[in-house]
Amino acid sequence: PPPRPVRIILTGPPASGKGTQSAMLAQEFKLVHISTGDMLRAAVVSGTELGLQARRYMDRGELVPDELVIALLQERMAQPDVIERGWVLDGFPRTIAQVESLDAAGVQPDLVLCLEVPEAELVQRVTGRRSDPVTGRVYHLQYDPPPADDTELLQRLVQRSDDSEETLRTRLDAYQQNVAKLKGRYAEVLAEVDGHRSKQEVFADLTRAVGMVHMHRQMVAQRA
Ligand code: AP5
Repeated sequence: PPPRPVRIILTGPPASGKGTQSAMLAQEFKLVHISTGDMLRAAVVSGTELGLQARRYMDRGELVPDELVIALLQERMAQPDVIERGWVLDGFPRTIAQVESLDAAGVQPDLVLCLEVPEAELVQRVTGRRSDPVTGRVYHLQYDPPPADDTELLQRLVQRSDDSEETLRTRLDAYQQNVAKLKGRYAEVLAEVDGHRSKQEVFADLTRAVGMVHMHRQMVAQRA
């Protein structure tokens, strides 16, 4: 039988690099990148009922109510690409109710990776972040600058409406209120990773951890 697809949860405080690293891991291991933040922002842009409801929470930096996010995620998790290829889940679960929704659906991650980044660095990352609405690529004005000669790209870069230092504090509070409980629930598969290093150094550590799970899956499949 083919190996069972790998399932990874990537967590960490706001602007710790979850989106950046999830996209790189998804490409490296051919996993589906599922980001509840991206899905909610897409719902806001397309003006759906969910988007209208979610927007006021997101703009304030508060968590969107569990029932809305859980329904959104359940719909995505049921799609064939996610089931066949495995996934890296970015930004979910954030509360115990969200963990319990995964438990109830029989979804257990192989690995939960948590990026650890000090608060002062998060402020730098959040205020310098800009994204390209056309490609979805995320840049940082100092750490990962867009090409200086691409004027078309530079003109269309946008800053997220929740990327102020003030809103970051609310987002960080929401994270800190829940993180210990989340880590406790996934203690057996948890790996804390120093995210306060270059993108490539962080990625090397994450790749090693995911690579071990991947190899284990293949060995199990070969023995079966
Ligand atoms: P979400 O989009 O998940 O926001 P977040 O958790 O605050 O995380 P970010 O997207 O801000 O950052 P990131 O960790 O992905 O960092 P990135 O790679 O971009 O959620 C937004 C909102 O949606 C929430 O506040 C909530 O309202 C709602 N929501 C979402 N999920 C929810 C859920 N499950 N339940 C309830 N509500 C939910 O990197 C940041 C910057 O740093 C970039 O500019 C990047 O280029 C740069 N960078 C990345 N890595 C490095 C590095 N190693 N060195 C230097 N710079 C780096």
